[in-house]
Amino acid sequence: MAYPVQRHRWIRGGRAAMVLLGANLLIGCVATSWDRVAPPVEVLAAGGMADVPGQRAALERGRMVYLVDCSSCHVPEPILAHSREDWKHILPEMIEETTLTAAEEADLRLYVESVLQLGVAD
Ligand code: HEC
Repeated sequence: MAYPVQRHRWIRGGRAAMVLLGANLLIGCVATSWDRVAPPVEVLAAGGMADVPGQRAALERGRMVYLVDCSSCHVPEPILAHSREDWKHILPEMIEETTLTAAEEADLRLYVESVLQLGVAD
């Protein structure tokens, strides 16, 4: 009667492995898609966009404004899905839709501008 017990254990182990794999895929997927929408500040830092003291913190705040405040009406679109020219009118129009403070607006503009300057795809 040893065989069924072993087989049972194998199935349980297999299930646990599948759950872990599923969780990893899910986390990987979520991280990748947000990074595509709004590249992480480390990417900008690597491109020299966060060298000025305080700039890095401002970029982090700007990214959060983009991902949080700019997603109250719609899913935020990848910044690089629009050209710099397009953003010149999209950003002021969309900022009007929000209730950002002047400081938040400045952080957001800095972040979006930095992403566009670097032109990183993901
Ligand atoms: C009050 C709701 C609302 C908020 C807040 C909002 N948007 Fe929008 N957004 C819209 C609507 C509605 C559209 C589609 C119609 C349009 O283009 O005006 C849109 C369209 C867009 C588009 C596509 C424009 C195009 O020409 O294809 C982008 C990009 C965008 N929003 C970015 C932003 C950003 C960045 C913010 C934060 C500053 C933001 N949105 C905040 C309502 C909102």
